[in-house]
Amino acid sequence: MSFAPFRLEGDRLLLLDQTLLPEREVWIEVRDATAMADAIARLAVRGAPAIGIAAALALAIEAAREGEVPQRHARVEEAARALRSCRPTAVNLAWAVDRMLRVARAGAAGGPGAKASGPGDPNAWAASIRAEAEAIWREDLEASRAMAAHGASLFPDQRRFLTHCNTGSLATGGGGTALGVLLALHRTRSGGIEVWATETRPLLQGARLTAWELRREGIPATLIPDSAAAHTILHGGIQGVLVGADRIARNGDAANKIGTLGLALAAREAGIPFVVVAPSTTLDASLADGSGIVIEERDPGEVTSIGAVRTAPEGFPARNPAFDVTPGRLITAIVTERGAARGPGYDLGSAFDTEPGPC
Ligand code: MRU
Repeated sequence: MSFAPFRLEGDRLLLLDQTLLPEREVWIEVRDATAMADAIARLAVRGAPAIGIAAALALAIEAAREGEVPQRHARVEEAARALRSCRPTAVNLAWAVDRMLRVARAGAAGGPGAKASGPGDPNAWAASIRAEAEAIWREDLEASRAMAAHGASLFPDQRRFLTHCNTGSLATGGGGTALGVLLALHRTRSGGIEVWATETRPLLQGARLTAWELRREGIPATLIPDSAAAHTILHGGIQGVLVGADRIARNGDAANKIGTLGLALAAREAGIPFVVVAPSTTLDASLADGSGIVIEERDPGEVTSIGAVRTAPEGFPARNPAFDVTPGRLITAIVTERGAARGPGYDLGSAFDTEPGPC
């Protein structure tokens, strides 16, 4: 896919407001990290790799604002704290913020980030920070390309796939994870493929965003309500389920959009592959298993309404966990840019197979 949800035009950072898709394609200018934190929190930009890149770009914008290095550095540190806490589940966000801070701190202390003109030159310091943000973005695009190739080789014969949430260009720097694999299959499989996309309540990332991307790419697809997913997997001829992830523990336990766990259970019952596709920036080596993954709880109002329309009695209690954790033992393979690791039983510190055979 060649479509990114961000645009850097000189010093201007533009973001495609995903809350308005598919009805309207509106690009908003993000002038500082506060605006980016707001955009991430309200899901104007979302998807694990995309929010990491968004935070990195926001820190670059912050670093380029007026002032000497110490003032700018203080603002970047404060912005980093705010961005980091916007969404807790996707590790890519904290990972990108930490990587940016390493460069900011090294430059402010006169380290490698400041090598061009010394620690006192705010423009050189800001340039080193922007270069790091652009590197994070570029590396994500490269990871998407590699994941598409590795993931596609797991499915030499299958044609009918189901996916959940949105894992395409909009969720990344412009490539894709699970949807990137499906696009690669669509482009290379003679006779083509068919995709079933879940709506992904409550915020409808599948209906609004994945359907929009599938149509852009001309991939034959059908939208189903989340409640039809198990039935479709067991009785609809689905041959593989592909999803992304927001955080993966060392044993392969994978957090992803709420509803993913049910898809994995249905795939196990149907005896079809359930494959997680995510860049290595989604691996959290600090976690032995998924029990330590913090699940984001969002506003219950997202459950009791669809958009502006209330669907439940006023004031009715609701819960809104945004993610669930699928045990690694239910995952057939985990694909990163390094290759594919096969379950059951993962140790994601170990090698990935760069020429994975069929699932
Ligand atoms: O709440 P969202 O829309 O940010 O959730 C996104 C997902 O769950 C994706 O599946 C995940 O981030 C992987 S995207 C490449």
